[in-house]
Amino acid sequence: MGDRRIPEDVITEVVLVADSTRSALDPNWPPAPPAKGALADKIAYWIQWKNDQFFGILRLLIPIFRLPKGGPVLVTRFKDVQEVLSRPDTFGVVYAPMMDKSVGPFMLARDNTVYNRRDKGIMRSLIDDKDHPEIRKRVSRIASKCIQQGTVDGTLELVASVTRRAPILLTGKYFGFPGPDVETMMRWSKATQLDMFHNQTMSGKVHDDSILAGREMWEYITNELLPKRRKQLRKNPERNDIVSRMLSTQCPAHIGWDEGRIVSNIMGLLVGGIETTSQAVIQIVDELLSRPKQLDGARQAALHGDEALFARYCWEALRFNPINPVVFRQCNQDYRLASGTFRTKLIRKGRVVVVGTRSAMEDPREVARPRKFRTNRPDYQYLHLGFGEHRCLGDGVSMVQVPEIVKQIVLLKNLRRMPGKAGQIDFGGGPFPERFSVMYDA
Ligand code: HEM
Repeated sequence: MGDRRIPEDVITEVVLVADSTRSALDPNWPPAPPAKGALADKIAYWIQWKNDQFFGILRLLIPIFRLPKGGPVLVTRFKDVQEVLSRPDTFGVVYAPMMDKSVGPFMLARDNTVYNRRDKGIMRSLIDDKDHPEIRKRVSRIASKCIQQGTVDGTLELVASVTRRAPILLTGKYFGFPGPDVETMMRWSKATQLDMFHNQTMSGKVHDDSILAGREMWEYITNELLPKRRKQLRKNPERNDIVSRMLSTQCPAHIGWDEGRIVSNIMGLLVGGIETTSQAVIQIVDELLSRPKQLDGARQAALHGDEALFARYCWEALRFNPINPVVFRQCNQDYRLASGTFRTKLIRKGRVVVVGTRSAMEDPREVARPRKFRTNRPDYQYLHLGFGEHRCLGDGVSMVQVPEIVKQIVLLKNLRRMPGKAGQIDFGGGPFPERFSVMYDA
């Protein structure tokens, strides 16, 4: 007689879907689904708001889900997500129409070209892991000052006072791109992020704002920042921020690392690093506040100076609410995904591929007991900073910056949510956290 037991992964997936359905009963659960409308609208809603249930069902029943009539293909299992993100020649990025007009040709809008190979190589060599202790000190100072200045009678609105401001100040100090003032940097960062990564409805206004932000950044960097930094470098050749390192790097002309490339890559430091960091910090703090035991564990790790363990608390907390549920790619040639398995599917050239990074981090075939909060998972199971050719350029900086900002917040005495709506993340109808208030014993 054959083994009639239900396979382990089926049981785990069913429990996961049931579990995430319970959490969907939370009164703060987001907006009602579109009443009518195309299947595509419903799927966009499920991806955004019912991700765990929707992807949980797909992972089990249709792990590679091709929508009818040439629609997008949803990829849900960890191994398949990694396979897609490892094949940039086949599954290309889709950001060029938005990015090119704002920041010019950029590594994230190109696959297998000089823009990622040369530019990313040079930038990776300049953003040096040896800087991490210095970055930690700076972030710690910056974040605690932001907290002090933002606190009014023991209450603190985190987004405006800390989580957007702190990475902008670090961008000024460490990357060497301070901008004219913090408010302008916030506007440039938000306008570009909105268009490049969240303008699925192709709003003309959102696109125009991003082009304008790009033009303003270009003018500021070319006419103000670079001449000033060159002058400063002549006086003090030891200046060591990333813009100074970019200017001091001598490349022969045939390499093509010219002023245009320098300007474009400086813009990328702002575009990539502010809303992402802000959202990650806010969602980590939110998750920890919902888990008193883990909040206490994280605090103990911080108080004992165990940076590595504290960081694990952060990335694990973020796994329960990552900043992006998916990344998008386009299939450039017919390709058989998960070849040699029962779930294999042929993906035709031209199809948009929705790569379920959140779903992958919940796939019980790879991630043991995914609904459990664990601080001993292997690093490779976290896809917060992407995977493959386009893995985040700011990954090393973020691995220090994000936990360090979170640390300054969770160490506040008797930290708790503000009562009512103010103590819940307010997205203000957009994709980024706009307000989230906490209280502490100041
Ligand atoms: C918590 C903070 C951050 C998160 C969650 C994050 C996330 C990501 C992700 C998921 C990607 C890959 C996108 C894709 O594959 O389509 C990416 C790429 C990128 N990120 Fe970040 N990022 C963060 C912070 C930063 C910072 C501080 C910088 C500044 C250097 C930065 C610069 C970039 C750049 C330039 C790319 C493109 C890399 C390439 O195309 O090769 N990011 N980021």
